[in-house]
Amino acid sequence: MCRDVHGLASVSFAELWAELLPLGRDERSGGYRRYSWTESDAACRGWFAATAARLGLLAECDRNGNLWAWWEPSADGLAIVTGSHLDSVPDGGAFDGPLGVVSAFAAVGRLRATGFRPARPVAIAAFTEEEGARFGVACLGSRLLTGAIDPATARRLRDRDGVSLAEAMQTADRDPALLGSDDELLARLGACVELHIEQGSALAGLGAAIGVAAGIWPHGRWRLDFAGRADHAGTTRLADRRDPMLPFAATVLAARAAAERHGALATVGKVTAEPGAANAISAAVHAWLDARAPDDTALADVVADVWDLARQESARHGVEVSRAEESVTPAVSFDTALRDRVTAVLAAAGAPAPVLATGAGHDAGVLASRIPATMLFVRNPTGVSHAPGEHAEPADCEAGVEALAAVIADLAGQ
Ligand code: GLV
Ligand code: MN
Ligand code: MN
Repeated sequence: MCRDVHGLASVSFAELWAELLPLGRDERSGGYRRYSWTESDAACRGWFAATAARLGLLAECDRNGNLWAWWEPSADGLAIVTGSHLDSVPDGGAFDGPLGVVSAFAAVGRLRATGFRPARPVAIAAFTEEEGARFGVACLGSRLLTGAIDPATARRLRDRDGVSLAEAMQTADRDPALLGSDDELLARLGACVELHIEQGSALAGLGAAIGVAAGIWPHGRWRLDFAGRADHAGTTRLADRRDPMLPFAATVLAARAAAERHGALATVGKVTAEPGAANAISAAVHAWLDARAPDDTALADVVADVWDLARQESARHGVEVSRAEESVTPAVSFDTALRDRVTAVLAAAGAPAPVLATGAGHDAGVLASRIPATMLFVRNPTGVSHAPGEHAEPADCEAGVEALAAVIADLAGQ
């Protein structure tokens, strides 16, 4: 094992990446199923703690289940936060989230090996349930931290098996009574720079390995519940049916049309039918609408159009429909001064980085309501994300570590 000038084991990006890669991977799909408070989540948390210990960082879990690894926690001044998340969407890619966490550890390891000592604390965070894949609310950990969601509401969130967040945390030996806004922790934080794989192919088109985020489109997810009447597929006359699948199907097409009309994006990526018999009319259909738009008005227009159509079609087919807003994030404009400073650091390091907007949600966007925040993006050659094909070339990952190290050195330097 190699040791640095402090006698601590040195870490390389490739080594840390290889350690994390097998955790939570589904052999059949090749994608990741790292859902919060499950066994694979515990394995990722174990990896985080072990990596922090290897680097001589102080590892902690905050009241909301977010992980922190502190470098010079007692130094004066407000901390520079980096990191991302370790959870995934169902069959997600390897890079969305983990790239930011692994790059953060590698950047700290690299700086430490050069003898750099931060003049203020540096914190590597892994926010819990960023994808909302288990409990439905995206960026749940950072929302709880910043007070953007009421803790009682969060405790009651349920997964698809009916297990509540409170129960899941108790099973993992965490106390859900402690959930909620953590002003003491927030008061220690000065700025956030989250590194993330790009979830599009703009950087590939521009021939740049690294980009800087301008902002995040407003976005959200809504659950639509269509309740009809179960009956026999072979004997029920068409005129007698109350089939919830019909207004649901019309709603999917309406979402696409509304997105086209308003220059937005709308997706129905998750649907369940009850009871799910091939030879029966469904009793109910539950569907999730994910909508994103360049501005808050366009987002509201898309959702209103989809909802109007869902109600009309439901009424036409004798179906009851209701909707629930699961999580909505307004438009985020990252701190201009921080963004300009980061861009200048990268230009000075010989890696000029284009500034890009994104339609993907991130914890940095939630933290931006409380502290200056920005993001670095690493080129994704195909743009594929939230799928096993998500990829970044090793050389670009190294460029990301280099860029992040330069940014930390600048923000946390003397
Ligand atoms: C998070 O990746 C999201 O934008 O859904
Ligand atoms: Mn994601
Ligand atoms: Mn992510």
